[in-house]
Amino acid sequence: MSNPIEKNLAALGIASADQVQSLFAELRTRFDGEAAIVADANSLKAFRDAWFGRKSGVLTLVGDNWLKPASVELKRSVGQELNKFKAHAQSVLAEKETSSDSSAGDTGTTFDLSLPGVIRPIGTHHLIRQVFQEIEDIFFSIGFSVVEGPEIETPYYNFEALNIPEHHPVRDDMDTFYLDLPKGAPGPLLLRTHTSPVQIRTMEKRQPPVRVIVPGKVYRRDNPDATHSFMFHQIEGLAVDSDITFCDFTGTIDYFVKQFFGETVKTRFRPSYFPFTEPSVEFDASCIFCGGTGSAKTGSTCGKCKGSGWIELFGAGMVDPAVYGFVKYDPKKVTGFAFGIGIDRLAMLKYGIDDIQVFFQNDVRFLRQFP
Ligand code: FA5
Repeated sequence: MSNPIEKNLAALGIASADQVQSLFAELRTRFDGEAAIVADANSLKAFRDAWFGRKSGVLTLVGDNWLKPASVELKRSVGQELNKFKAHAQSVLAEKETSSDSSAGDTGTTFDLSLPGVIRPIGTHHLIRQVFQEIEDIFFSIGFSVVEGPEIETPYYNFEALNIPEHHPVRDDMDTFYLDLPKGAPGPLLLRTHTSPVQIRTMEKRQPPVRVIVPGKVYRRDNPDATHSFMFHQIEGLAVDSDITFCDFTGTIDYFVKQFFGETVKTRFRPSYFPFTEPSVEFDASCIFCGGTGSAKTGSTCGKCKGSGWIELFGAGMVDPAVYGFVKYDPKKVTGFAFGIGIDRLAMLKYGIDDIQVFFQNDVRFLRQFP
């Protein structure tokens, strides 16, 4: 049987509006018949392609074969009938699609609710943060607590109250970043060069006994290289009481170093200079790479301690009595010690990292090594 939609109206013998109407009525009966047997997603797709396909669907062919070549007299009624038919066809299709979607929900896909969900990685603490925590835990265990202070400081707290007057040569070592302030603003202000200003801020607020550590970021105008960064991390320590001795001081540091690096590590101190401690020392630890022998396993000189068997750790000392004057403590009644640990370099030592810059590059291949 020939398919009427492949022929034009003249070939079908259609010459009046009534005939056009009955032709579309037949088409609609055929459409409804086919729609009625759509039962699942596959038959719906075949139905949609057959009737609505852009290139050779029935609707396209009706437009091409019946409407376009229609005579002037019939064009109007063909157009009207085609529009009515399209509206009907589209609403039937939409209905079919809706019921197909919901029946897929009822009987199609099944879900196994006992399967584990998608586990998204949540990241870990940066190695510097982990080392901060290690150190904090060690000092918590001997009665210290954590305090914090501002990263933007006044020269008074960063220098003067720490017994570093203006023009003191030690300021040259701590050349730093001063803030550009608007005219008339009280100033100057700078990015703190060490965590030591928080010693002053703490003693201003608290009466002895004081036992605090101060973790934080510090800034210096140092050119970046394998051991220097313009922003790095320190932990300040301060203990002040009525009877703190030099032995308490060295014992505390020795306890910390052994907890952090291991029981076999030895400590020693050498004379040093800081304007806010007197006496001042540098603490060294026996080299954790060669066991303090100065020789590598191969017999050559240990590259880490350069054969000395010792590695410099950090500066410290007994609090200079002059500092107590700035915080209204009586230097005749109190004594104490303070230290300032460079966290980045300590982490490099413990974890065998030879370039400080990797801490700041955030390369995940590095970060993933310290989960
Ligand atoms: C100080 O900053 C003193 N405030 C420490 C102190 C506190 C002494 C309390 C006495 C009492 P120093 O400038 O040496 O000291 O710095 C301390 C540590 O910071 C150094 O041992 C080193 O580990 C680290 N450090 C210094 N400069 C840099 C830098 N540019 N990059 C990375 N680490 C640095």
